Amino acid sequence: MVHHAAVTGWGWYSPAQILSNDDLAKIVDTNDEWIQSRTGIRERRIAGPGETTSSMATNAARQALEEAELAAQDLDLIICATTTPDHLIPATACLIQQNLGADQAAAFDLNTACTGFLYALAVGTQFIKGGGAKRILVVAGETLSRFVNFEDRGTCILFGDGAAAVVLEATSQNAGVLSTVLGSKGDVEQILSIEAGGSARPATAQTVAEKAHCIKMRGNEIFKLAVRSMAQSAQEALAKAGLSVNDLRAVIPHQANHRILTATQSVLGLSEDQMFINIDRYGNTGASSIPIALGEFLHANPIDAGEHLLIVAFGGGLTWGAAVLRWADIPAIKRERKESLLRKNFALTG
Ligand code: UT7
Repeated sequence: MVHHAAVTGWGWYSPAQILSNDDLAKIVDTNDEWIQSRTGIRERRIAGPGETTSSMATNAARQALEEAELAAQDLDLIICATTTPDHLIPATACLIQQNLGADQAAAFDLNTACTGFLYALAVGTQFIKGGGAKRILVVAGETLSRFVNFEDRGTCILFGDGAAAVVLEATSQNAGVLSTVLGSKGDVEQILSIEAGGSARPATAQTVAEKAHCIKMRGNEIFKLAVRSMAQSAQEALAKAGLSVNDLRAVIPHQANHRILTATQSVLGLSEDQMFINIDRYGNTGASSIPIALGEFLHANPIDAGEHLLIVAFGGGLTWGAAVLRWADIPAIKRERKESLLRKNFALTG
């Protein structure tokens, strides 16, 4: 039997510390007016000294499990999308597995930068459709503030920290992830990169002095590519699902720049209330930005079974893509779970 992969739980975590535009204006030559008008960002959250990608992701994962009414032991796979892992080894997903006590789950990381959550959702969907997993934690976490050069005004104003997760679950309902579209083009020109710290340029005193472990970006080149690729992948994902923009309750895009989002909205012909934007309070949180936005959207806008969402992203790699989701009847999935547990217990005792 072919299963569909539906989101049945979600949660997000944002660190408490706020870094405002005025705070940044004390560090680099910038100002609130420039940042707000060029990016739409008012403030971003910064991880505290004891916080890491895995600790934030664990908090988000616990919320997602609670929302799904599942225990960590119910998970059979954890996929963590991150560009800012706690360490190169072990994988951040393994640390989350340990923190949660998800002792039945396999775990691995996936790095496609800001498109990470979308890729992880697509991979998780394939695991479920292929029968390799039934309940997957798709989690994204980023501590980008630790990879930002706070002397570079072109990048340090953009990024923030945070984590978010969804539970992706097998269902026989005709719902869940209906279509995915993924793309990539190797960024040999280093439009968006962290040059040092890998095998091509291992850490040395010189790389540290050069701040080569920090994000470097040619923002305006990315800007144009982002609008083009996001609009195109959104259209392809809709066509694959047999839907049009009018069928969408909302679009949850990667939050990189308010102007990228309004440009994409206008190319796609979406109304203002269809496009969910929260970049003003978080900045660009990399792979976490879509699931944080999804969590906030669902918190403020109850959604009915059968309604459609589109998620769309562009990021380093370069990578891009989109996915269309049909919201499942989650209470029915929870009921089915309980009934199947009862049947199992009855078979054991009977
Ligand atoms: O997550 C996926 C990957 N990332 C993105 O998608 C980011 C996409 N790019 C962007 O969001 C925008 O390109 C930025 C916000 C990074 C930059 O905005 P822009 O409108 O493309 O500005 P620009 O880089 O063309 O620079 C315009 C001017 C320059 O001054 P001059 O040369 O015209 O005198 C910059 O030096 O703005 C200056 N500038 C700033 N001024 C005040 C650049 N950063 C700042 C700043 N404050 N923070």
